[in-house]
Amino acid sequence: MDDGTTDRAVTYGSYLRVDDLLALQQPRSSAPEHDELLFIVIHQVYELWFKELLHELDRVRALLTANDTHRAQHTLKRILTILKVLVAQLDILETMTPLEFLSFRARLEAASGFQSDQFRQIEFVLGAKNDKAIRRFPEGSRARSALERRYGEPTVWDAFLQYLSREGYAVPQAALRRDVTAKIEASPELQATLIELYRKDPKNAEMCERLVDLDEGIQEWRYRHVKMVQRTIGAKPGTGGSSGAQYLATTLMTPIFPDLWEIRSRL
Ligand code: HEM
Repeated sequence: MDDGTTDRAVTYGSYLRVDDLLALQQPRSSAPEHDELLFIVIHQVYELWFKELLHELDRVRALLTANDTHRAQHTLKRILTILKVLVAQLDILETMTPLEFLSFRARLEAASGFQSDQFRQIEFVLGAKNDKAIRRFPEGSRARSALERRYGEPTVWDAFLQYLSREGYAVPQAALRRDVTAKIEASPELQATLIELYRKDPKNAEMCERLVDLDEGIQEWRYRHVKMVQRTIGAKPGTGGSSGAQYLATTLMTPIFPDLWEIRSRL
């Protein structure tokens, strides 16, 4: 009988590459400092969730392009659930005091979440693109190739606008043919269409609400991250070279899909 331990049989450990996974946490402090493992684990878990989010966001875009709103909404629900977990995880890191962080902070040298290419990829696929973010990564690297590819691709918002147009809505040509590398600008014409949609079309209004949830979820993460940064390092500069919490505060309250927020005061 196969006891599951032979080379041939798939086991929990072999399928999930548990040995490889557990070898990936390498503290840099020499003692090592107790809290550095938590810091590494949290960041690695984030990167895994970022990978899954990108996988699901690509699917939402493809499902919208295929006019499959039912499954697009289902996938959006999963994305939102993951975002809640991402925000909740910050609570764990907040159990680390400023002094505990300081015990190993110098070992991070210039490393910072600012350099997370997957976070930038999420911004790109949603529509918040910035070519400077691409040039920070070495040419030919995995990160740079992924960012370059996503920079030229239509965003989730573009897929949504094309879908609305196919549904018969008056989406301005300028929005349908916009440069997909540019920032998503608010459009009063599109807002008039969205207001009509909200009043008459519960199915598509529901889809808009899920996009607002997504936008709010990212903003919520940004807010909780900056509060965590303030309580952990105060007004000190970041390891990534920015002014720290002061820089992060400039990224708050900026919606990804501005039209979906603008219409609210007129509904
Ligand atoms: C003690 C914990 C943390 C501190 C003190 C901290 C601090 C900072 C600071 C100061 C910045 C600004 C850039 C810089 O100069 O470094 C930053 C950016 C960033 N951090 Fe953190 N961080 C922490 C945890 C995390 C975690 C767990 C993640 C999850 C991946 C993360 C992801 C990011 C991202 C994505 C940015 C770029 C944000 C943007 O440019 O909009 N950080 N962090």
